[in-house]
Amino acid sequence: MVKHRESRPGQKAAGGLGAKSRRDMPGKPSAKPAHASRPAKPSRDHGERVAEPREAAVASAAPERPLTTRSGERPVERVPVILESLGAGDFHLIDSGNGLKLEQYGPYRIVRPEAQALWPPSLASHVWDNADAIFTGDTDEDGMGRWRFPREALGETWPLQLLGVDFLGRFTAFRHVGVFPEQIVHWAWMKEQVEAAKRPLKVLNLFGYTGVASLVAAAAGAEVTHVDASKKAIGWARENQALGRMEKLPIRWICEDAMKFILREERRGSKYDIILTDPPKFGRGPNGEVWHLFEHLPLMLDICREILSPKALGLVLTAYSIRASFYSIHELMRETMRGAGGAVESGELVIREAGLDGRTPGRALSTSLFSRWVPK
Ligand SMILES: C[S@@+](CC[C@H](N)C(=O)[O-])C[C@H]1O[C@@H](n2cnc3c(N)ncnc32)[C@H](O)[C@@H]1O
Repeated sequence: MVKHRESRPGQKAAGGLGAKSRRDMPGKPSAKPAHASRPAKPSRDHGERVAEPREAAVASAAPERPLTTRSGERPVERVPVILESLGAGDFHLIDSGNGLKLEQYGPYRIVRPEAQALWPPSLASHVWDNADAIFTGDTDEDGMGRWRFPREALGETWPLQLLGVDFLGRFTAFRHVGVFPEQIVHWAWMKEQVEAAKRPLKVLNLFGYTGVASLVAAAAGAEVTHVDASKKAIGWARENQALGRMEKLPIRWICEDAMKFILREERRGSKYDIILTDPPKFGRGPNGEVWHLFEHLPLMLDICREILSPKALGLVLTAYSIRASFYSIHELMRETMRGAGGAVESGELVIREAGLDGRTPGRALSTSLFSRWVPK
């Protein structure tokens, strides 16, 4: 069971937020980008460094279609909403501090860099020193590095479970471990929607990575479309599906640029009841299409709105970005959803320290911003 709570101090909130962590992205150097309007920084695949695209190749392409002019009332707002988890399944955050976090992933205790942890750790240093895996490397948040295994050499993967779904934890070269556990609160919310619906919901998971959200949705009874640009990530997602013997569940695994995919779905008139979108700051499609969050997010949300079904239950955006406050994505979401009724709730995803026993609440570690439209 997910231990999480929502805190909603008020209708309106003051202020923006500080720096957010970034995550890695896939892609290859671009030959003919589909929706780029300025060159992106180099991005990294899960474990592979990716070369800088040639500037001329990415600088000129125009957007695929103009933004829709929206009218009608903006949805009601609920801000700030802090979606907090105290761990779930095989995961909890044990402690944090001194720019690091100590996490439990199934049998392993793992130490990784965490720029948000400005405070001193709560637990004694021998607890940290006894970790099973420590990521050492580039202090840049997207930097490459390597894993050190102080107790014994560990394999690349190990089995984990979250929200009843089996998948593999994985030591990747960019410090990630095959899952972003702060997303559990969104996944638990989605699972509830799918289980409560009296019809099979259609769920679209954009930038789906290793597919845990897709598996959670499918296990709950949804028909899922999972889109990611990285062949490697799709391969890992399929491995996860096989691990949980979930091959029969209706999941379409699509290796494609997310923007290209939704543009096509819009042309075809496809509709989805729930859309999860978790874009990186920079990324590349399989054919070098450049994704740049600050350039492309408005159009992406605009198209997502068009492919929401008339009885849609949610459009959920997560952003790991250093330049934005949650108000940036909140107001964009409200503009995009003008005339749709419902409410837009936005804030941060945080993980609460849970101590060695996984049950002792400590400090809150902020991981990302989110904004979601819901019909009520
Ligand atoms: C931050 S991860 C998403 C994590 C996932 N939602 C989860 O919580 O497990 C970003 C993913 O975006 C994918 N990606 C990057 N650029 C893309 C693009 N242009 N189109 C589709 N997927 C892309 C990467 O391959 C990566 O798997």
